[in-house]
Amino acid sequence: MKNICVIGSLNIDLVATVERFPKPGETITGKDFSTFTGGKGANQAVALGRLGANVEMIGKVGDDFYGRKYLKVLEDNGVKTRGIGIEAGVSTGVALIEVESSGNNRIVVIPGANGKVDIEFINDKMNYILENDIFLFQLEIPLDTVEYCIKKIKETQQTSGREKIVILDPAPAIQIKDELLKCVDYITPNETEIEILTGIKITNQDNIKKAAYILLDRGVKTVIAKAGGKGAYIVERNKFFHAPAPKVNVVDTTAAGDSFNAGFAFSLSQDKELEEAIRFANAVASLSVTAKGAQEAMPTIKQVQDFIKTW
Ligand code: RIB
Repeated sequence: MKNICVIGSLNIDLVATVERFPKPGETITGKDFSTFTGGKGANQAVALGRLGANVEMIGKVGDDFYGRKYLKVLEDNGVKTRGIGIEAGVSTGVALIEVESSGNNRIVVIPGANGKVDIEFINDKMNYILENDIFLFQLEIPLDTVEYCIKKIKETQQTSGREKIVILDPAPAIQIKDELLKCVDYITPNETEIEILTGIKITNQDNIKKAAYILLDRGVKTVIAKAGGKGAYIVERNKFFHAPAPKVNVVDTTAAGDSFNAGFAFSLSQDKELEEAIRFANAVASLSVTAKGAQEAMPTIKQVQDFIKTW
């Protein structure tokens, strides 16, 4: 099994459940409130840990109550934490999340310590990072850090001849330079993100193909387009493959994309074919939306295997 490294964010999610989202200027009464560990990076790492991957996380928490607690959460879920820094004088990242009855969510992130994951910190952890084979990035740490780290990983692939697979989840979506896209093996946007990256509104499969081709032209090797309840697509120059998602009872879609990426990376770590990897990823993501919270809802490998048998 290949080793996996997640370089990204760790947040504390403050989650309010509401019947419907308030309109601008409106006050509404919510249904309940919970605090969970979250952050797109840590969600991917914890999901991988629960699946049984060899996984480590690189990132920063604040020197506060939540930061110290977070290390134990990662370790309890089988995630190595030697690459986690504790930043003095800064809070752990926070996400303010509203979840509607439909399961849809809205998120505001305050980066805190995630904003301090700089190039110097990455250089300090580079030996740990380069021991791994598969690398997951998202965009909740500074973009120049992501660019630097991905380039270093690909330079090492060239000099060592050992394959290093880079998976970029462009979330939250911002414009990305072609220079970076050329170093990315798999980019995994959802429909909103693909629209921000390419300017193409996603309404059907033709749009997905057209938008994905723009990203391929800009240098990405493979586009894995996530389409929520409709499943996911693999788009390469000579391949267009759709894996539908199974129907489930949706409770909370928070971190569905993160669990998808974890499932995808886990399959690749076991040298599975791409088609099988996105089917497995769909199963992990589908299970994750059937319960509340980000990491709380991530399934174990046994739950995923049992689910696939019934599907
Ligand atoms: O992808 C879901 C995550 O986005 C949440 O856990 C929240 O922390 C934000 O980073």
